[in-house]
Amino acid sequence: MSDYNAAVGSACRLLMQSLAASNADINDIRPGEESAGPLLAEWADRLADVRGRPGFYPTIGSGRGKGALVELMDGSVKWDMITGIGVHGFGHGDLDLMGVAAQAAVQDTVMQGNLQCNTEAVRFAERLRAAARAGGADMGHCYPACSGAMANENALKVCMQARDGAPRVIAFQDNFIGRTVTLSHIGDSPGHREGVPQSIEVDLLPFWDPADPDGSSAEALDRLRSILAAHPEGHSCFVMELVQGEGGFTPAPRSFFVPLLETAREAGVLIWFDEIQTFGRTDRMFRFEGLDLGAYVDIVTVGKMTQGCAALWRAAHNPRPGLLSGTFLGSTVAMSVGTRILDRLASGGYYGPDGSIAGLHRIFDDRCRDIVERHPTCFPDVEGRRGPVPKWGGTGGMMRLTPFGGDRDAIASLVRRLFDAGVITFFCGHDPYHLRMLPPVGVLEPEHLESVMDIIETCVAAQGEDG
Ligand SMILES: Cc1ncc(COP(=O)(O)O)c(C=O)c1O
Repeated sequence: MSDYNAAVGSACRLLMQSLAASNADINDIRPGEESAGPLLAEWADRLADVRGRPGFYPTIGSGRGKGALVELMDGSVKWDMITGIGVHGFGHGDLDLMGVAAQAAVQDTVMQGNLQCNTEAVRFAERLRAAARAGGADMGHCYPACSGAMANENALKVCMQARDGAPRVIAFQDNFIGRTVTLSHIGDSPGHREGVPQSIEVDLLPFWDPADPDGSSAEALDRLRSILAAHPEGHSCFVMELVQGEGGFTPAPRSFFVPLLETAREAGVLIWFDEIQTFGRTDRMFRFEGLDLGAYVDIVTVGKMTQGCAALWRAAHNPRPGLLSGTFLGSTVAMSVGTRILDRLASGGYYGPDGSIAGLHRIFDDRCRDIVERHPTCFPDVEGRRGPVPKWGGTGGMMRLTPFGGDRDAIASLVRRLFDAGVITFFCGHDPYHLRMLPPVGVLEPEHLESVMDIIETCVAAQGEDG
């Protein structure tokens, strides 16, 4: 090892010792200091001013945190159960990841690009490709990008070129895919494209509905057949989240997907799994792996927990030169930490029915059942498109609870109440809306989740009493 590398190694070790010492007081939630309250409000105002709209709540971090706990600018410490919408899968101040980040931070460049990069970009892409292959998908290539939306834009272009410019896309109702001009027209949220001219033709199919599994499956297949017949060779791809994320944390079984995937494949339409939200946090590293759908994947996109984002595709679909590039492919720190996360996910006992993620979901499930039983008036029945919506759900580290009939304002109040009580959550879905958690599955201990569920129960009950 060179003297320089040895010096960096020992400096990083010292740095991590200091970080551990500095975080030693973060062991449980605590309220903010009154004197620091205005400081947090001031930062929240500055954010609102510079960005042009306020944050949903003042989650401005101090830069300190430990595991599932994060400290905010008022000195309060809260359970972080939303993790930047699924990004901080290993929580806050993880000494191993911070050590990797510190080493990466003293490489010669902050950002790496498509024209010039260092080894971190190559390793990150190779590691992701190896993970996808291990999950059963024959991915020839992996192309990093700086956001999920950019990875998805790249994926869409690859599909379109591979299908000789076929202009249409098939997706599911209630899907979310990102916020570029084109992606906001594929996503099923009219509010996300208000005032934005239509730039793509999309055909939506109903998603699997637990209230009517057979009916929703049959209707999706019928609709797929009829749109394929109406637009022969017209579709480039069929893009899907295998567990719908923003749409309401709805998983669907293999038996729902297989006939659809077979039918699309017969028509030559490329199959694209958007695993940006599911990656890392369900029953396997990729959800397609858990559902044994790897054989169908033409293209898959990942982001969030991987820190760097990327699109991976079969060698046969590799685009011609010129279609993809861009100045940045990612930061040195993001790709180094992302590579380390992939290694830890692969070896940390997270997956399978006995893995720690399934264990966390079982706790969530049991606690929700108790909460609903004990506070029935807070959980009126909610009618979905085809029947009652289950009062809690999700899978793995995608957890949702639906009190107060899924009313938007009531869920938003609950999220704010929980924030004040020391738990950071968010919502998902649209009519009904749900309380939503994307906890740091890499570091969350069962007893942490029990504490969080205690606070959820108290807040739901209190809001129910307040009416
Ligand atoms: C399924 C899915 N696709 C795409 C995206 C967009 O990723 P990003 O916000 O990094 O652009 C998201 C983000 O929430 C997502 O959940």
